[in-house]
Amino acid sequence: MDFISEELQQYIDKHSMEESDLLKALDRETHQKVLLPRMLSGSYQGRLLSLLSKMMMPKKILEVGTYTGYATLCLAEGLAKGGSIDTIDHNEELVDMQRRYFDQSPYGNQIVQHLGDAKDILKTLSGPYDMVFLDADKENYPLYFDLIIEKLTTGGILLSDNVLWSGKVLSSATDEATTALQAYNQKINSDARVETIILPVRDGLTITRKR
Ligand SMILES: C[S@@+](CC[C@H](N)C(=O)[O-])C[C@H]1O[C@@H](n2cnc3c(N)ncnc32)[C@H](O)[C@@H]1O
Repeated sequence: MDFISEELQQYIDKHSMEESDLLKALDRETHQKVLLPRMLSGSYQGRLLSLLSKMMMPKKILEVGTYTGYATLCLAEGLAKGGSIDTIDHNEELVDMQRRYFDQSPYGNQIVQHLGDAKDILKTLSGPYDMVFLDADKENYPLYFDLIIEKLTTGGILLSDNVLWSGKVLSSATDEATTALQAYNQKINSDARVETIILPVRDGLTITRKR
C-alpha cells in the first residue's frame, strides 16, 4: 500500500538527494538475482537513513536484518571516524554479496557481518549503540525491543521499519506479524524510557529516542 500518490512520490524523489552509483548497482543486482527485492530500503528511505546517521554521527550502529546490505551502506555514511556497524542476518546465501558491495564502499572495514538468528546474536553483542535499525522478522519486534533497549545509549535512536505493515495495523487481522506490530507500536509509545514518533515513510518508519 502506498500512503502517498505515485505522482507526489515522483516529485519527492526528484527534489531529494540521489543515491550513489554503488547503491544503484546494488539495488539493480538485488532486483535481478535475489528473492523478495521489495525488502530493500530503496533510494528515498535510504537517503533518509543516511541523513539521520549523518546528523547523529554514531560511533556504533546496529542493524537487525541486513538483506543485501543496502541500508547498511546508507547508515555507514554517517559513522563517526573510527566507528563501526554490526549487522545481523540469518540468510547465509546473502553473505558474499553483502561483502562484495561493502568492500567496494569506503566503509568495508567498518562493517561487521553477523550470521545467525537475531535473537541469539543480539544476546552476544554488548554495544553500546548510538543508532539501531530494526528491519527483520516483524513477529519478534517486541522481543527485539527488549533485547536492544539496554544496549542503546542515552539520546541514541532506534529506527523501526514496516511499522504500518501496508495499513494492516488498522485491521482486525490475526496473523502473527500484524498482531506483533500492533503490540510493538503500543509498547514503544508507552515505555517511559523512550519517546517515539511514527513517520508515514514507505511502509511506516518509527523514530524512537532513548531519554
Ligand atoms: C526487510 S529485509 C532487510 C532489508 C535491509 N535492512 C534493507 O533495508 O535493505 C529483512 C531481513 O531480515 C532477515 N531476517 C528475518 N528474520 C531473521 C532472524 N530471525 N534473524 C536474523 N535475520 C532475520 C531476512 O533474512 C532478511 O534479509
